[in-house]
Amino acid sequence: MRLFIALDIDDAIRERITRFVEGVRNFAPDGRWVKPESLHVTLKFIGEQPEATVQNIKQELASIAVANSQIHFRGYGFFPTAKAPRVFWIGMDSGPQLAELAAMVDNKMASLGIPKDDRAFSPHLTLARAGGGSGSPRWRKGDKPNRVFQQLQEGLAVLHAPEFGTMTPREFFLYQSQLSPKGSKYTKLARFELQPQAPDSRITA
Ligand code: 2AM
Repeated sequence: MRLFIALDIDDAIRERITRFVEGVRNFAPDGRWVKPESLHVTLKFIGEQPEATVQNIKQELASIAVANSQIHFRGYGFFPTAKAPRVFWIGMDSGPQLAELAAMVDNKMASLGIPKDDRAFSPHLTLARAGGGSGSPRWRKGDKPNRVFQQLQEGLAVLHAPEFGTMTPREFFLYQSQLSPKGSKYTKLARFELQPQAPDSRITA
């Protein structure tokens, strides 16, 4: 099973992002745009695992105790770089709890033999991918300057940095991803609660 761990986004933010995408997607008609209902913030990409491991993964994730914190969605960027763009994403500001959660998830999965991320967590929300390109934030074979997002980059450069609002996640999910020519299908396999927010963890920006 192809697995990953992610946060869901609130409906109000999903709607704002959907409207933004409707306004800009014609600037990159060859991009593979993520369906609004599939938008998520990946905490950890696990990849292929035997079905028998799922129970152990759930058990490890259930033992995580991290406080939630506000996330403010704004701005955008490209992976691996703006000059060789393969992934178009929305950025976010949050308290340190989000990176703590990602690190905790990474450690718990490492205890099951799942390789740790070799790159610092860079929270993002993927909106579109170039052609058949991978969703990985890292440099991949074949990444090179391309024109898929060129018009989009030019269009965005003359707009104000987009703002999509603030939310406080209360939970995260273990997801299964099923690849198909029509796009990936994501299914929630399990839900894990975050601890209530500490009073001083609000972001002020
Ligand atoms: P992202 O879109 O948030 O970057 C399910 O496939 C999710 O796992 C994708 O949405 C993507 O997250 C992430 N993902 C897929 N392939 C990946 C890879 N090779 N390395 C890292 N993350 C990957």
